[in-house]
Amino acid sequence: MSPSANPSPPYVRITGWGKYLPERTMPNSELEALVDTTDEWIRARTGIGARRIAAPDETTCSLSVMAAQVALEKARVDPDDVELIIVATCTPDYANMPATASLVQHALGARHAGAFDLNAVCSGFLYGLATGSQFILSGAHRNVLVIGADVFTRILDWEDRSTCVLFGDGAGAVVLQATAEPGGLLSFVLGSDGAGACSLYVPAGGSRLPASAATVAERQHFVKMQGREVFRFAASVVPESVLEALGRAGLTTDDIDLLIPHQANSRIIDAAMRRLKLADSAVFSNVERYGNTSAASIPVALCEALEEGRVVAGDTIAMSGFGAGLSWGTAIWKWHG
Ligand code: ACO
Repeated sequence: MSPSANPSPPYVRITGWGKYLPERTMPNSELEALVDTTDEWIRARTGIGARRIAAPDETTCSLSVMAAQVALEKARVDPDDVELIIVATCTPDYANMPATASLVQHALGARHAGAFDLNAVCSGFLYGLATGSQFILSGAHRNVLVIGADVFTRILDWEDRSTCVLFGDGAGAVVLQATAEPGGLLSFVLGSDGAGACSLYVPAGGSRLPASAATVAERQHFVKMQGREVFRFAASVVPESVLEALGRAGLTTDDIDLLIPHQANSRIIDAAMRRLKLADSAVFSNVERYGNTSAASIPVALCEALEEGRVVAGDTIAMSGFGAGLSWGTAIWKWHG
């Protein structure tokens, strides 16, 4: 649809939020039967106790739709009034085309919405939030749906203990609208360092190494990761980008009511918390229950922080993600309530 030609509104506001986690829970004990690992090792090195696994008939689109419907209902926005749908994902329903966002648009009945996918892997929701906000702040659109969703377990090698214990499936969504009330997106930082591309990647299935019988036999369609390199990168980039985003907003760490970091590993979260000198109570974590749900991790965590009353009107929250690319993104958001 063409832009609504509204006068440029001063602020963007999250008016609806929703999450969806598949029903099936896989505890660490189940992984003990698949690979040479233990519940004790996984908990000590990652903080993860369980993850959700999508049912065979569930996809990134179906998870997205479930989360989006909750968000739209909360915002009291009819799907017909949605003007743009952004789906942040690295596990689209189809490898190349069409975009999962188009499937979501159709399933929601959002007949007047444009739709596109965005791939910044685990930083994807922050990229989507910053992008969607610009459509609101420019006056181009009044209702924008931003979804972070991944069925990451479909690209895991269940014979590789260094990756298969870390990830789970899920989706989270927010509805963005304009408001005259001060708040919303105060600042953001988006970053990328493609020099680290092969620290975390899926070697085959793209134009560089198209799918063939050989790539399948060599298990090249699964995630490969240099865990220690990604850990070092994440432990420094989260606090650094939070400080940069705070600086852009003219704020300091004292102003943060809640940090919602990407839920990859409790040791990465603890390292960021220590560097930023934040109290336990100022950092949200649900990594124990869901593992790393990639682009879904931050919107799911935001939903749960809201459900638990950890975010209330007037709070300043920092949301910070990192992931393959390498990529990172942080947003400082003043909650309207
Ligand atoms: N169970 C038991 N042992 C294991 C397991 C496992 N599941 N996985 C690895 N090990 C072993 C290793 O083989 C190694 O054994 P060795 O000493 O005999 O060689 C030993 O444990 C230590 O391995 P390290 O890799 O040094 O362990 P580390 O403490 O670094 O923890 C981990 C590994 C958890 C992967 C950590 O490096 C990490 O979390 N990195 C960041 C990963 C991440 O967040 N990725 C997602 C980014 S977001 C995105 O875009 C998708």
